[in-house]
Amino acid sequence: MSNRVKCIFLLITIGLCLAAGSGRTQQVPPKSPKAEHAAEKALDPWWKHAVIYEIYPRSFQDSNGDGVGDINGITSRLDYLRDLGIDAIWISPMYPSPLVDFGYDVSDYTALDPLYGTLADFDRLVSEAKKRNIRVIMDFVPNHTSDQHPWFAESRSSRTNPKRDWYIWRDGKGPDQPPNNWQSWFGHSAWKFDPITNQYYYHHFYTEQPDLNWRNPQVRNAMYDAMRFWLSRGVAGFRIDAVSRLFEDPNLHDDPLLPGKNAYGDPNIAHKYTDNLPEVHQVLREMRSVVNEFPGNPVLISEADEPNIAELTKMYGSKNDEIQLPMDFQIADVNKLSAPDFRRLLDEIDKNPAGGQPHYFFSNHDQPRQWDRYGDGVHNDQIAKLMAALLLTTRATPLMYYGEEIGMRTTDPVRKEDVQDPIGKLGWPQEKGRDGERTPMQWDTTKDAGFSTAESPWLPVAPSSAEYNVKVESQDPNSILSFYKRLLALRRSEPALRDGKYLPLDRGNADVFSFLRKAPGNGDSILVVLNMSAEPRTVSLALDTHGVKESSARPLISAPKITRESAVLAHFTVPAFGVFVGSVH
Ligand code: GLC
Repeated sequence: MSNRVKCIFLLITIGLCLAAGSGRTQQVPPKSPKAEHAAEKALDPWWKHAVIYEIYPRSFQDSNGDGVGDINGITSRLDYLRDLGIDAIWISPMYPSPLVDFGYDVSDYTALDPLYGTLADFDRLVSEAKKRNIRVIMDFVPNHTSDQHPWFAESRSSRTNPKRDWYIWRDGKGPDQPPNNWQSWFGHSAWKFDPITNQYYYHHFYTEQPDLNWRNPQVRNAMYDAMRFWLSRGVAGFRIDAVSRLFEDPNLHDDPLLPGKNAYGDPNIAHKYTDNLPEVHQVLREMRSVVNEFPGNPVLISEADEPNIAELTKMYGSKNDEIQLPMDFQIADVNKLSAPDFRRLLDEIDKNPAGGQPHYFFSNHDQPRQWDRYGDGVHNDQIAKLMAALLLTTRATPLMYYGEEIGMRTTDPVRKEDVQDPIGKLGWPQEKGRDGERTPMQWDTTKDAGFSTAESPWLPVAPSSAEYNVKVESQDPNSILSFYKRLLALRRSEPALRDGKYLPLDRGNADVFSFLRKAPGNGDSILVVLNMSAEPRTVSLALDTHGVKESSARPLISAPKITRESAVLAHFTVPAFGVFVGSVH
C-alpha cells in the first residue's frame, strides 16, 4: 500500500471510530454531496467522454528554430487545441533517446531529452494545459529500452552482472545460429549476437531496442517507479507501447512459418510465441494498481493490435482491472469504406462482455494517414469528413492524430537517401517507413507552414500545406477543420452523443451506415447516416421501435450541406459519401 493510500485508510478508520464512539449508531448518516460526487466520478470517469489527440512531438511545433518540435512548441499551441475541442493530449515519447526509433528507444525513463525541453518546460505544459481543461498523457515504452540505457550497458557487461537478467540473453543454437527462428517486427532475426559475452539478446523491434525481461521483479518495480515519477508530476495516464509483446515463450519454441515473404525478404511467420502471452495480464493489473494510487482517475491506453474482439476484451481485465482504453486496431484497419464491416465491428465492441469503453482511431504515427487510406483519390476531402463523423459520433472515446483535422495526407519520401525511419531504409522501396505520416503540422502558408523557422525541418513540410493548413481552413466554413470543430462542439453539447446508447439501424444496407445515439431520459436522440458509397443512396429508417415518435429529423451537421429544415426518415437521400447528423425525438 502506498503512503498516500495508508494515510487515507487511517483517516477513514479514525473517522469511523469517532462516529461509533459518539453513540449515534441508530442511523447511517446521509452521504455528503462531495462523497456522492466522488462516487459518481468513479463510475463516470473523464476518459469516457474525452476526445484524445495524439501529438508526435518532433512534428507539432518547433519553438527554438532547430527544425524539431518541442515541449514549448506544444504549450504555445494549447489555445488551438482548446478551441478545437480536445480534452487530452497523448504525446509520443520525449525521453532521452539515441533516436534510432525516434524516441521509442528510451535511455532514461525519468528524464526528458533536451531536444524537447526541460522538466520545468514539461511542468509548465501540464499546468497551462490544466488551465484549459486539457490533460496530458505520456507514452510509456515498457517492452524494451535503448541499447544505450545504463541498465543494458550493465547487463551486457558480463554474464554475472546483477542486471544480466533484466534482459533476455540466450546461447545460440550453434556457431552463427540464433537461438530460434523468432523475427523482429522490423525485419530479420529478433536475436542479436553480442561478442562481449558470446550470447544473443532478444529484440522484438530494432537491434538497438533490447527487450526487458518482465519476469524479473526488479524490472517491474523499476518501471512502476518510472510511472509514479510522471504521475506525481500530474500526468493523466499513459499510452502503453507494444504491450502485448512483453513476454516470450521461456522454452523458445520456433514460431510457425506462414506462406510467402515479408517486405524485408524474410519468410512470413506467426508471432505465436512472442505475442499476447497470458502473463501480460498480470502486468496490466499491476500497472492499473499503480495508476490507481493517484487521484483524478488516470487512464491506461494500450497499443495492442489484437486479432479479434475476444482478445481485445481481455485487455479490459476480467474485473475491469487492467486497461481502460484498449485501442481498437480492427476498426482502424478496416481500410475501406464498408458499411457492413464497420457495422459488424462496432456492434461487436459495443457488446464486449467486459462492458469496457470502446476506443477508436483511424490514424497514428505508425500508419499511413486516413486521408489517403480511406480516400478514393477523387473525393478525399468529403471522405475525410465522413471518417470524422464516424469517429466523433459513436459511443467510443475517440483518438485523433495531429493534422487529421485539416486533412493532412501521407507524404512519403521520394528518395531512399531522404528516409529517416530505419524501417524505410531497411525495406525500401516496398516499405518506405513511417516518415510519410510524421511530416510537420501545417499551421499556415508561411515558410515551413509555421512549424519551424529552421532552414530545413527534420522532415520536409508536405506540399499540400499550401492549401491544407489551420489558417486557411479556419476561414473557410466548408473546410475539413471547420467540420471537425462543429462535430467536436456537438459531441460536447448533446447529451445523446455524450451518454446515449449506440443503436445500429438499417442493418442490411450494404452502402449506408446508420445508427442512433439514443438520449438518456427524454432528451433528443441523434441520428447519424453515413453514405459510404460513391453514389447517392436513399434510405428508409424506422425509428419508432426505438421510441422515436417523429417521422423526420432536424439536420444539425451535414456534408454536403443540407439546407432543408427536416429530413423525412421514410425516404431520405444522402449524397455520395454524404454525412447527415440530425436530431429526433
Ligand atoms: C510501437 C510504436 C512504434 C514503435 C514500436 C517500437 O508500435 O507505436 O512507433 O516503433 O512500438 O517501440
